[in-house]
Amino acid sequence: MSAPHHRLEQRKVSFDFTDTPLHWVPGEPEASHVMNTLHILLPAGEFWFCRVYNKALPLVTEARLRDDVRGFIKQEAQHARAHDSALTPYLVRHGIDPTPFTRRLSWLFEKPLGDLPVGSGWLGRRLQHWWLLQRVGLIAAVEHFTCVLGDWIITTRQLDHADPVMLDLLRWHGAEEVEHRCVAHDLHVHLGGSLLMRWLYMLVASAALTFLFHAGSRLMMRQDPAIRRVRGFLPLWRDLGGRGLLPTMGSIGRAVARYFKPSYHPVVEGDVQVALDYLAHSPAARRAAEAAAAG
Ligand SMILES: [Fe+2]
Ligand SMILES: [Fe+2]
Repeated sequence: MSAPHHRLEQRKVSFDFTDTPLHWVPGEPEASHVMNTLHILLPAGEFWFCRVYNKALPLVTEARLRDDVRGFIKQEAQHARAHDSALTPYLVRHGIDPTPFTRRLSWLFEKPLGDLPVGSGWLGRRLQHWWLLQRVGLIAAVEHFTCVLGDWIITTRQLDHADPVMLDLLRWHGAEEVEHRCVAHDLHVHLGGSLLMRWLYMLVASAALTFLFHAGSRLMMRQDPAIRRVRGFLPLWRDLGGRGLLPTMGSIGRAVARYFKPSYHPVVEGDVQVALDYLAHSPAARRAAEAAAAG
């Protein structure tokens, strides 16, 4: 099952964080830091997506899917660059040092999650192919979360009063996640990914993302003098979710359950038209479109 074809385009956005306060959700330092985890997690994570997909691209035998994968790679690379652009002018400017987290993360994506150190013989090639398929399966599970979170950030009204630049970054990214929501799943299935792999990698992705958001937000909250006591991640999430500042735990649990259905396909997740409507009005996306039109 595939969505009606929609050509994915890279929008070369940029953001000016000069006036963005550390607590970009006004009066909510914890919610700001949980979402700030995206800036320290995604540059390494999404460039890793691109490296894995560049390896997978020659294996794709359908022209349309190959086109989708190319568009996906371009969009994810731009997401990584945009979040990376917030590190110095936003986090570091406000006294937050993300390097203890980003250094470990770079190692994780380059070494344990990089290519296997095997030779180019028959067995080495087989192992490398197997490992590529595992990583494609893991990315498909992560992309289910990015679509669900992207749909939430573009549709919630609870953050409309937040800093407009940071909100536009998250909503532009979220909208493109909804826009390309089918690509990772379709690629995984195309390369032979099984239902069992989908289940396994959803479990791995759920645990890994929970840990990474816990570790990343805790690192930043500990450096923020406005936060006297760093709360446990799950009680914090329950509280912020209940107040509409994050997706509720229940909504994420239901999203995870949907991924386990044998009939699952991301085409029913989110609404591409809502995402495209946001992208048509996003200040950053409009600036990018004007710059592209001007040549
Ligand atoms: Fe992304
Ligand atoms: Fe994505």
